[in-house]
Amino acid sequence: MVGGLRPPGDKSISHRYALLGTMAEGETSIRNYAPGADCASTLRCLGQLGAAISRRRVNSSSGEPVEELVLEGRGLGNLQSPRETLDAGNSGSTIRMLSGLLAGHAFHSTITGDESLQRRPMKRIIEPLEQMGASIHARDENFPPLQIDGRRLRGIEYQLPVASAQVKSAILLAGLLADGQTTVTEPVATRDHTEIALAQFGAEVVRKSRVISVRGGSNLRGQKLTVPGDISSATFFLCAALLFPNSNLYLQDVGMNPTRTAVLDFLSSLGAPLKILNIGEISGELVGDIHVMGGPLRGSRIEGPMVPGLIDEIPMLAVLGTCTSGGLSLRNAEELRFKESDRLATVAENLGRMGARVELHPDGFDIPGGQRLHGAELDSFGDHRIAMAFTIAALAAQGESSLRNSEVAAVSFPDFFERLEAVAER
Ligand code: S3P
Repeated sequence: MVGGLRPPGDKSISHRYALLGTMAEGETSIRNYAPGADCASTLRCLGQLGAAISRRRVNSSSGEPVEELVLEGRGLGNLQSPRETLDAGNSGSTIRMLSGLLAGHAFHSTITGDESLQRRPMKRIIEPLEQMGASIHARDENFPPLQIDGRRLRGIEYQLPVASAQVKSAILLAGLLADGQTTVTEPVATRDHTEIALAQFGAEVVRKSRVISVRGGSNLRGQKLTVPGDISSATFFLCAALLFPNSNLYLQDVGMNPTRTAVLDFLSSLGAPLKILNIGEISGELVGDIHVMGGPLRGSRIEGPMVPGLIDEIPMLAVLGTCTSGGLSLRNAEELRFKESDRLATVAENLGRMGARVELHPDGFDIPGGQRLHGAELDSFGDHRIAMAFTIAALAAQGESSLRNSEVAAVSFPDFFERLEAVAER
């Protein structure tokens, strides 16, 4: 892998900017909004709720033309009742975080998603949002479609039973529309983009380690924002570079929020030759460049509090694990079973098809190191991260592979294949 690349805008941050921009007063402009289908789902739902969204071309400070997404804020608590069912597509972030806002609006709404989303657990948001005063009906009390009857909410103190940034964010967003203060305590620190964005938009938010409080009713002001590159998307290229000895890859403008950079620490701990340069800040988020070269890697173990910080990177790290000297063991990662696919099962299935030995556990796996993958008929199982991780696996394998339903990569990274082609050596 040789050359340079700017990963697409961060998916997590883009969702949050769109949701908060709609709840703010005045205009919010967002540069480098994530191009994938997930963040488009958030915009589509917000449009159905009365948001005015447009795009315009402007010149950046260096004179380059750039596209901005422009949201005319509706102000706090002013979403319009939707005429039709809201469709979150494949996006867990959209359905969970938007439900937090819908819970605080005094109208009825229905929100659902694609087949994969309809299998993902929602009780984790229903419980706290009902404690705040909303009424939410779900299929089998847990699955979309969600029928939400929102109302004026009351602030609560809530201890999260699972480490989930989406659930934390749903409660904090509902907290904006609640009387008094809403406090969430996390078992393990998860990505804090909501907290940063809330402060950026002028909300009253207080953080003491894993305890986060937001005061209801504080008016949000429209912002001029730029989204950093998505480190989770960058991970596919970082790992691809590590798999090929002659790699020399430079990734620019990557989000360096410390709640997202566990993958860099982890790869460094395996002996990965990577350097972080040009650290700066945009819109309250850290951003920097990463230089990576190929090189031999040691094995490692991911468990306990490490898991939430690496949650989206594990499919790619599993593939990498086969090529390390000591392999990769994973434990306490049962949450992976509830992602866009059951990622423990889909990783093990595809690695197995490539001839790798994998021992699957209810909450993880053991993947021995020093394995040579062979080409195989692979499947994305409708999961964008599985599609991308196994495209890289196929490149590293001996012989030809095919990947069924590879186009699902567009959920987070529409031009993944073109970008990979551009840096892959012939
Ligand atoms: C996300 C949180 C994580 C992550 C997902 C994005 C977010 O999900 O897996 O891709 O933007 O808050 P959970 O909150 O379910 O762990």
